Amino acid sequence: MTFIGTGYLGITYAACYADLGYEVLGVDIDAAKIAKLNNGDVPIHEPGLDELLRRNLAAGRLSFTTDYQRAAEFGDVHFICVGTPQREGSTGADLSYVENAVLSLVPHLHRKALIVGKSTVPVGTAQWVEDLVAKHAPADSGVEVAWSPEFLQEGFAVEDVLRPNRIVVGVKTAWADALLYAAHKGVFDLAATEDREVPVVTTDFATAELAKVAANAFLATKISFINAMAEVCEAAGADVTHLARAIGHDPRIGNRFLQSGIGFGGGCLPKDIRAFQTRAQELGAGEALRFLHEVDLINLRRRTRVVHLAAELLDRPAGPGGPGLTGLKIAVLGATFKPNTDDIRDAPALAVAGMLAKTGAKVTIYDPQGMDNARHALPGAEYAASLDEAVTGADLVCVLTEWAEFRNADPAALAELVAGQRVIDGKNCLDAAQWRAAGWEYRGMGRP
Ligand code: UDX
Repeated sequence: MTFIGTGYLGITYAACYADLGYEVLGVDIDAAKIAKLNNGDVPIHEPGLDELLRRNLAAGRLSFTTDYQRAAEFGDVHFICVGTPQREGSTGADLSYVENAVLSLVPHLHRKALIVGKSTVPVGTAQWVEDLVAKHAPADSGVEVAWSPEFLQEGFAVEDVLRPNRIVVGVKTAWADALLYAAHKGVFDLAATEDREVPVVTTDFATAELAKVAANAFLATKISFINAMAEVCEAAGADVTHLARAIGHDPRIGNRFLQSGIGFGGGCLPKDIRAFQTRAQELGAGEALRFLHEVDLINLRRRTRVVHLAAELLDRPAGPGGPGLTGLKIAVLGATFKPNTDDIRDAPALAVAGMLAKTGAKVTIYDPQGMDNARHALPGAEYAASLDEAVTGADLVCVLTEWAEFRNADPAALAELVAGQRVIDGKNCLDAAQWRAAGWEYRGMGRP
């Protein structure tokens, strides 16, 4: 099998499926990245991936190439794993990488093969890909298309690929269905050895495509729901973390994805809910997803909330142009959109750091893994080499990504370093009582 596009998705799938015993080729147009991967260097931070990559390169089951002709000759199943970012100047998805991947591959396919879309796409894309294939594949090659969205979470990507909680396949023929079963057999066999079953949902193209965006829309809505409750708690003097527990014990609601804070970010949820709305509008069903606009707004409001909290804590009431924090030093702990990744795409932490810097404050950022990416994305900010360095002399500490290093930090020791003992817990991840006992003025999100 081949995995086309060696981002988070493609690299993780390629390494995991090689580990399951398949012969795997990873494909990308970025020659520097391919050279790195062939050398055993993972260009992203993802727990467990380095070892998996090196082990399978060494075993000869895995390699990487920029050569589409080689990929076409090699693969029976070609998984499209390229990015579908938000289109410049629009809320829709940019499908040019999908189009380029398909057009680069199919003219070289001289035997029957299956192209399987994994990327998150607007509903209707699979059909469009099938039409492209019909137009550009050599006559009588019999190339078919299927869609099987991925649901992996960064930080748990290896686990999610090897032990998925479900597999969704959109197919049109029994041949494609059987080949996809064979392509996932390693995952089913692993589950069997662990006395588990992996549920498979077999459906049509459109439903398979929608399954992914619907799942992400639900998760985003759940997070914005609890953040909306946080806003109400702020007005009413209630505690949203207790509220989340109080409702989450109901199994119909469930306590996962009910953590309030500065909202969701990352390369998927924000852009996916926007692209989903755009696509629904194109289909004449825009009204059905109007609530996702509200989900987006609630999410973005949480970022502004941190700036207002900072002004409140620092006793600098907002002027007409927003809060002015000139002359104050703020330590921002966290830059990545969540812990255990170096991904800073649409990271709430970095967005808040940028907003705080705009108030005139001197902002110093520290993140255990995201420093290189953050420096690139927010070059104007200052960066510290350690947690201690970041907080030294700070008037305010903002914890904006719930890394274990921050959750486990000793508030008494940090108190010795700061200029003022004020902390904003942007992810409600600190032990408020412990910080208060150490003399800190503590403010969480949606907490009294
Ligand atoms: C998400 C989906 O979970 C995954 O299934 C899909 O394939 C891709 O998009 P990911 O982007 O890796 O995965 O991150 P996820 O763990 O879902 O977190 C998204 C954002 O929501 C993060 O910024 C996280 O901090 C935030 N979040 C999550 C909350 O604010 N509260 C929560 O309770 C959970």
